[in-house]
Amino acid sequence: MKVLVTAGPTQEAIDPVRFISNRSSGKMGYALARVAADRGHEVRLISGPVSLQPPNGVGVTPVVSAQDMLAAVERNLDWCDVLIMCAAVADWRPRNPAAGKLKKGGGAPTLELEPTPDILRRVAPRKGGRIFVGFAAETEDPESEARRKLREKSLDLIVANDVARPDSGFGADTNKVVLFSRDGGKHDLPVMSKQEVARHVMEWVEGQGKNAERIGS
Ligand code: PMT
Repeated sequence: MKVLVTAGPTQEAIDPVRFISNRSSGKMGYALARVAADRGHEVRLISGPVSLQPPNGVGVTPVVSAQDMLAAVERNLDWCDVLIMCAAVADWRPRNPAAGKLKKGGGAPTLELEPTPDILRRVAPRKGGRIFVGFAAETEDPESEARRKLREKSLDLIVANDVARPDSGFGADTNKVVLFSRDGGKHDLPVMSKQEVARHVMEWVEGQGKNAERIGS
């Protein structure tokens, strides 16, 4: 299959030297890209700013902002059979980023924020027969939030990621996730390496691909 993965944070400019972002390290998304490539899939990775080596054999498109990531996903969507949105896309950006560096002498600036484009919602009309996998970074009530996002973002699978515990989520080498599928399925996984989480996700995706082949034949 042709698998398009997004990873890492986005950065939203305040001025040429400052930005709003989050603590995503890219480890989960890069693990997905590596595991998918190792399992014989063609993989393209769209990555926000991280300090990780791209996996062997995986083409990487580096992006900075949510707008850049949206454009890169849109450019690659026709190519892919599977989209895995693991990136922690910033939800807000400064409405009017300053052209020059903001000076301290002018007093503390007030930032007016606006929502960034929701990438999954924007590409949903072009989904066709593709498999869409999302992630949900949750601190409380993961099930209802994840199921809401699964429905509202036209996903086939959502990986609800516990980001409240130290051995899971942003920056950690391990992860605690629950997989919720469109057909009502729920798979609660124990804490494991991000590589192992990626293997579970890819096994689920490959199972869907096989079902589609059976239905089509
Ligand atoms: O990078 P690591 O340090 O390894 O950490 C991994 C992770 C915690 C970042 C990752 O596992 C994770 O949970 N990623 C999703 C984080 C997130 O943004 O969740 P969300 O609930 O805000 O978004 C839900 C889904 O919508 C996600 O698939 C997200 O990529 C997507 N989204 C979000 C905002 C936006 N503007 N457009 C989107 O498409």
